Amino acid sequence: MLHVGPDELLQSLHWGPRLDVEQAASLLEQPEPRSRSVEDPADGTLALSPTGGYRYAHAGLQIRFADGTRTLDLAFRGARVEGQDTLVLSFEDRCHPLAVEAFFRVVADTDVIERRMVVRHTGGPEDEPFEVLRADSATWVLPGLEDYRISQVRGQWAAEHQLDRTRLPFGETRTASRRGISSHHANPWVMVDDGTASEQVGQVYGCALAWSGSWELVAERTGEDRVALSLGADHPGSRIALAPGEEWPTPVCAGQFTHGGFGAASRAWHRYLRSHVVPHPQELRPVLYNSWEATGFDISLEGQLALADRAARLGVELFVMDDGWFGARTHDAAGLGDWTPNPDRFPDGLAPLTDHVHSLGMAFGLWVEPEMTNPDSDLYRSHPDWVVHAPNRPRTEVRNQLVLDLSRDEVAAFVHDTVDRLLRENAVDFLKWDMNRPLTEVADDRIWSAYVRNLYGILDRLRAAHPAVRIENCSSGGGRTDLGLLARTDQTWISDNTDAADRLHIQHGFSQLYPAQVMGAWVTDSPNPFTGRTTPLAYRFHAAMAGVLGIGADLASWDEAELGRAASLVAQYKAIRPTVQQGRQYRLRPPVRNLSAVQYVSADRSEAVVLAFRLERRFGRTDPALALRGLDPAARYREAGTGRVHHAAVLLARGLPLDLPADDRASNLVHLQRVEHQP
Ligand code: GLA
Repeated sequence: MLHVGPDELLQSLHWGPRLDVEQAASLLEQPEPRSRSVEDPADGTLALSPTGGYRYAHAGLQIRFADGTRTLDLAFRGARVEGQDTLVLSFEDRCHPLAVEAFFRVVADTDVIERRMVVRHTGGPEDEPFEVLRADSATWVLPGLEDYRISQVRGQWAAEHQLDRTRLPFGETRTASRRGISSHHANPWVMVDDGTASEQVGQVYGCALAWSGSWELVAERTGEDRVALSLGADHPGSRIALAPGEEWPTPVCAGQFTHGGFGAASRAWHRYLRSHVVPHPQELRPVLYNSWEATGFDISLEGQLALADRAARLGVELFVMDDGWFGARTHDAAGLGDWTPNPDRFPDGLAPLTDHVHSLGMAFGLWVEPEMTNPDSDLYRSHPDWVVHAPNRPRTEVRNQLVLDLSRDEVAAFVHDTVDRLLRENAVDFLKWDMNRPLTEVADDRIWSAYVRNLYGILDRLRAAHPAVRIENCSSGGGRTDLGLLARTDQTWISDNTDAADRLHIQHGFSQLYPAQVMGAWVTDSPNPFTGRTTPLAYRFHAAMAGVLGIGADLASWDEAELGRAASLVAQYKAIRPTVQQGRQYRLRPPVRNLSAVQYVSADRSEAVVLAFRLERRFGRTDPALALRGLDPAARYREAGTGRVHHAAVLLARGLPLDLPADDRASNLVHLQRVEHQP
């Protein structure tokens, strides 16, 4: 509930449990007690928080006018409702030609509010430009809680999405990416509870930014013990000059309040993503094979054909050829930008491979990294000025590559046309769209945003022109996982780290906001190339079956027994896939102690899947029965494998006996089906 008082500032009166209009209006009669004396009563309570006046809390809107003025003096100009679901509140500066609109969209069938802001220069040709120093999409004001605890993910390459839950200190806590991508190191979402919420109980406030570039979150805990969360795109310190008639729109920041602990909060986010963000949520994501860990850059037509034959035998539905198929790309120092098949490796183009893959009944996918170029490429030799660079500064190479400046329309057009041509000239059903380095030497502050907006434009146009093509989002693994790209891609490669045990942690953090339906996960070889850890085949499969199953192993080295076992696990995945990808997820046990488990329940509660993993075997500690969630309590469920029948009430109250094999890294998959009553 928002309130514009006599000071014409936009105050947040209530965010939390639902109130009807009459109940909400009654809040006006009982203002919250605030300390008085020299304290400003509005500080820390504003949903739109401009610099200026007697206010010192974080300002989500910061402007610098041509005369040096850095304060705003906003007058409320009115409210309108757009398209039934969106409230738009308009403000104007009393003296400078600046207007601000704050948008609040109530998202149907969810508790989500999508917020954004537009800043506009309303002056004429005679007026000077002004600079936008900061324009957060939204500032969310929390009610007074006993205490405040903040949940976020941190990480690095190959260790993304590490959940961190810690008491919010007083003052400002900032989390950011300054890399031009949403980053491996943090993710643009946050949840806050009062310090007592568990997986099953408690109130959780959360917000997430739909943006794939740099961003910053300011979580501020004031001296009066109130908290506001302000989330926005771009760089602190950047200056965007707005000329008369120009406007600066922010991306969407979605926020929601939930009851029922972190489990219910995540399920509510999954529901929102699946019903309002992710394309084609009704489609089951295919079982894919990816050749990267098998071949690296050592790609040949014969090798790919052989891998495709073996993948098809396993029941794979989509065969993806990774890096190394184009230009002079026989290592990572050449070829990016030259998107034609390498003539030595594919003398007759891709058709011999795509035809063969299709004849095996699989779809064909191709790795691309269209936003990049290697200095050793024909593209760079023809257009050295097309990369993001600053005059008189070295061009920092990361993985021997430079970033094409997508903020420039001719470069964006080249990237679009290149991928468009690839799709028109080849029978490609799926792209793995990679982006393997962040931006450096950004000479103009506008590039940060324009890069992302043009990337979105390219993807939107490609999707419209090639509606049957599906896209996997990758950025050295999970470097660009966010609501902005999830609206334009069908699944995401959440980490290059394919060690199943590490993966349990990464998947746990990922699942806080993002649904299993978009979580690509591969089974690879053991020992794992990243960690050297040895894990059983079933353990690797079970970890990957918690999301969109893929296989990334060197199948050429698998013996008949392994291939046979893998084929039956793929078949088992296909049986549980609708429940995993489209059901509700319950994190039964986080991957922190000796046992970790996750459960999925179909919407009608007729099917449930439990995946359990022993992390460490300790003598004298038996595996506990695992209390399940979300089942129909009056029903009985049959285990698909053993035929054993359980009372749901017992599974909920006491638990499922796990029957894990006697080993470290033991795992089990239990598929439960409701026993329907005979009429
Ligand atoms: C990135 C991706 C990998 C693989 C390589 C290819 O690291 O995350 O999955 O595609 O690029 O170079």
